[in-house]
Amino acid sequence: MSSYSEASAPGKVILFGEHAVVFGMTAVATAITMRAKVRTVPAGTLTFNGKRIEKEENPYPYHAMEEAELDGADMNVISEIPPGAGLGSSAAVSVAMLASLRRDWDMKTVASAAYRVELLSQGRASPLDTSVSTYGNTVVVSRENSAEELWSIRGREVEWHISSLAVRPMEIVIGYTGHGAPTGPLVEHVRQLHSRFSLAREAIEEIGQIAEEGRRKLMESDYEGVGRLMNRNQRLLALLGVSTKELESLIEAVAAYSYGAKLTGAGGGGCIVVLTDRSEKVADAIRRRGGLPYICRTGAEGMRRHEPEG
Ligand code: MEV
Repeated sequence: MSSYSEASAPGKVILFGEHAVVFGMTAVATAITMRAKVRTVPAGTLTFNGKRIEKEENPYPYHAMEEAELDGADMNVISEIPPGAGLGSSAAVSVAMLASLRRDWDMKTVASAAYRVELLSQGRASPLDTSVSTYGNTVVVSRENSAEELWSIRGREVEWHISSLAVRPMEIVIGYTGHGAPTGPLVEHVRQLHSRFSLAREAIEEIGQIAEEGRRKLMESDYEGVGRLMNRNQRLLALLGVSTKELESLIEAVAAYSYGAKLTGAGGGGCIVVLTDRSEKVADAIRRRGGLPYICRTGAEGMRRHEPEG
């Protein structure tokens, strides 16, 4: 028997509904081909990439150990996903850690444990990132259940139903500004706006409606419709103060060659996601504005356990 266990999980882009999903609104995310891979070896203490780490420094592996009911492990992570860039890096690492630590767990158990890891590490979270990273393809989180339900969870204030969405893979371009931002403080910023301003509450409601409409347009493969809704979603995210000058500059640069574009994830930096059938043109436009383009397709494979070599 091999002494190590290995698993990988994909990053994601959010097509509709980030931030609003935390308040129970609908959101749609899709898995991308960038992955995080984790190798774990049983041990009495916790090491991460060869080092002992403090919980404050990186709480994710600590919470993963607790969820897996283990005392320790040597964990090694190789990730293609830039952290804090809205591409679900922490969710992918959490899912891959748990899938590697607990080979006996099914997807639903991994998804719910990874959600708790994110919640405890981030302070406030929805199950969107961890679900799409676990199941892959395209996933919808909403208040209502559906025939395609994968799992559901009751949070402190809302109940989330997580379903798969049958969508044809689409061509997208990700544009990275080169600067990331931690998710927790941005989620907290939106929470404060939501509690203080009716305009923010209305914007969040409207993002939910856009996501509902977006889900239908995606199923009809109506890319012009999807793009228009992505643009509307972006304007509301900017209103909530989570867009940046750099993100707006990239969005403006790709407008002529795309159906639509918006930031993905918590914002404050990170990436835009562009729906297009002119990937090379979009990639050039992103490069000319100093961004880093990544051409890919949606609907990538979810978590996978790798057989040890030899
Ligand atoms: C982060 O990728 C998405 C947010 O909606 C937070 C969450 O859903 O946990 C900003």
